[in-house]
Amino acid sequence: MTQDEMKKAAGWAALKYVEKGSIVGVGTGSTVNHFIDALGSIKDDIKGAVSSSIASTEKLKGLGIEVFDCNDVMSLDIYVDGADEINAQREMIKGGGAALTREKIVAAIAEKFVCIVDDTKAVDVLGTFPLPVEVIPMARSYVARELVKLGGDPVYRQGVVTDNGNVILDVHGLHITHAKDLEAKINGIAGVVTNGLFAISGADVVITGTPAGAKIEE
Ligand code: 5RP
Repeated sequence: MTQDEMKKAAGWAALKYVEKGSIVGVGTGSTVNHFIDALGSIKDDIKGAVSSSIASTEKLKGLGIEVFDCNDVMSLDIYVDGADEINAQREMIKGGGAALTREKIVAAIAEKFVCIVDDTKAVDVLGTFPLPVEVIPMARSYVARELVKLGGDPVYRQGVVTDNGNVILDVHGLHITHAKDLEAKINGIAGVVTNGLFAISGADVVITGTPAGAKIEE
């Protein structure tokens, strides 16, 4: 089975958590794109979606799924999204697609985070995947210096502007053993919008695409 087939298996398995008549929180990325295709197959059974990126919004609308403004929705049953890394504590690194801030906002509104990944994303210790940090452009150099003090090696993601008009620093060289503490510490640096650690609030359900099919852990 290819990696994309494993992503597809995870994306389609997440349909199990979609309630009839609900508004669904939708993440961003190639795994989520399979989930959006799956949602399209039941679009008449759901009310619509709240999206975490312009890319996902376009795909949802293209399939005829109504996309609601986050400000008009009080709560969501579920938020379905991928991850770049996930550990046994269900802490994640996200933001490979630069959508981390909107992802964290939609995840915060949802009761349950359903993480969909292929089996290459499971790690013992977070940090091999560089940690994305969304930064206000004028603070880029200052934030980079602060990240070095935390033991990281920040690299400016050239040519990328987030949906919120900000830039991304990818922090290499981290061996993240206290993810919640690091998440809070980085978010405390002036000029940081948010960072890609989803540890203070991690995944509630993990669906892993494997060569044998989707494995669900609740
Ligand atoms: C985007 C994300 C994605 O969930 C993450 O990058 C995983 O992407 P993919 O499903 O394409 O492997 O956080 O900001």
